[in-house]
Amino acid sequence: MSEQTRFLLSQSDLPKSWYNVMADSPVPPTPVLHPGTFEPVTPDFLSVLFPMELIMQEIATDAYIDIPEEVRDIYKLYRPTPLIRATRLEKALDTPAHIYFKNESVSPTGSHKPNTAIAQAFYNKAAGTKALTTETGAGQWGSALSLACNFFGLDLEVYMVKVSYQQKPYRRIMMQTYGAEIYASPTDRTQFGRIILEKDPDCSGSLGIAISEAVEVAATSEGRKKYSLGSVLNHVLMHQTVIGEEALKQMDLAGEYPDVVIGCVGGGSNFAGLAYPFLRQNLKDGQRARLVAVEPTATPSITKGAYTFDYGDTAKMAPIVKMHTLGHDFVPPAIHAGGLRYHGMAPSLSAFCDAGLIDAVSVKQRATFEAAVTFAKAEGIIPAPETAHAIRVAIDEALDAKAKGEKRVILFNFSGHGHFDLAAYDVYLSGKLEDYEYPAEAIQAAMENLPQVKMPV
Ligand SMILES: Cc1ncc(COP(=O)(O)O)c(C=O)c1O
Repeated sequence: MSEQTRFLLSQSDLPKSWYNVMADSPVPPTPVLHPGTFEPVTPDFLSVLFPMELIMQEIATDAYIDIPEEVRDIYKLYRPTPLIRATRLEKALDTPAHIYFKNESVSPTGSHKPNTAIAQAFYNKAAGTKALTTETGAGQWGSALSLACNFFGLDLEVYMVKVSYQQKPYRRIMMQTYGAEIYASPTDRTQFGRIILEKDPDCSGSLGIAISEAVEVAATSEGRKKYSLGSVLNHVLMHQTVIGEEALKQMDLAGEYPDVVIGCVGGGSNFAGLAYPFLRQNLKDGQRARLVAVEPTATPSITKGAYTFDYGDTAKMAPIVKMHTLGHDFVPPAIHAGGLRYHGMAPSLSAFCDAGLIDAVSVKQRATFEAAVTFAKAEGIIPAPETAHAIRVAIDEALDAKAKGEKRVILFNFSGHGHFDLAAYDVYLSGKLEDYEYPAEAIQAAMENLPQVKMPV
């Protein structure tokens, strides 16, 4: 009989709680600062943007937080997601390694993002919020929140980075189908957008600018609208831990334990979702899985950025956090992994990398697409360009195991499919895709504009 390749859980195995890594963190949390005063923020300041339940989750120290039944009910549309052993990829690479991936692309919108979108929409609805605002880069986050707001009867305004709005009309149409309003950012709807457009009418936008617009709309709505973020924050990463909790059970079904756990990182949420439950096992259960976060050489916030206090957005309206950053006025190169273009990184993940608990590597665009095509040909699923970064490193690990004649168990997060990203594949397949390394001088220059926070960095 051929080997088993799909490890499935039943709906009754759906996790009942999220895992809050802060409870077990060996590094103390760093303060979140007010962007105007540089003093630690109060829940009152944050309550302009977020409902109190999410603010409490942001600072929670309990290890587990119950997932509300209403959220689990919607999770059941696509969870538990499959764990797949990629035996055809193993064969194609002729490697003794065993390669597993957790397939988050089976959600209705095609990525892991609904895991937190559904939770955030639920807590906003419960708090009486009528409408949400958010930004989106590649469109995966906007699609997920559009789906979630539709389920809970909330209105939604999405500020979509202009270059993606133009390159990805199908993502826009998907969001509109669920009932959201989409604007190409920078817009003339906000004061900050108008300032940017005055300086540069052709500005193609950035995630930092779109965040500023979405935050401004919520902050000036006199309480009618709240803001929702798809990555970076503690509560967002925590909502994603259903991925890792399921994967732990599924690896058990497969009778193996990963030597290495891999995920791509934009703001850190899909990686943390898979890796933090494995980090808990490292910290508390004597396991020794290597945890590897993968970023593009074009936006190398962990591998080349500074670990310091910086604003979360370009307009300096969002709170200041300590993180790996390329500077809040970072203008991202037009790489094809739109979801990995953020200037910063989740504070928790930044702290764990700094403490040596998590490794980070960066990979180039062409090698990334080469890995994506190898994977698609072997396993059939076309990955999102973001996901392909994780696949590159999973393949490199498998080839390294082959070179050393080792059996290695590799687990990576398949964070999304690339069905709306085929234009990027077209550029790669036609030989026009170029590698890009973010220049060290640009990082140096951006460091001059960091907030002058009087806190030990
Ligand atoms: C498919 C996919 N993977 C990964 C990411 C990166 O985000 P994060 O690091 O928060 O998981 C994105 C972001 O949009 C995405 O769409």
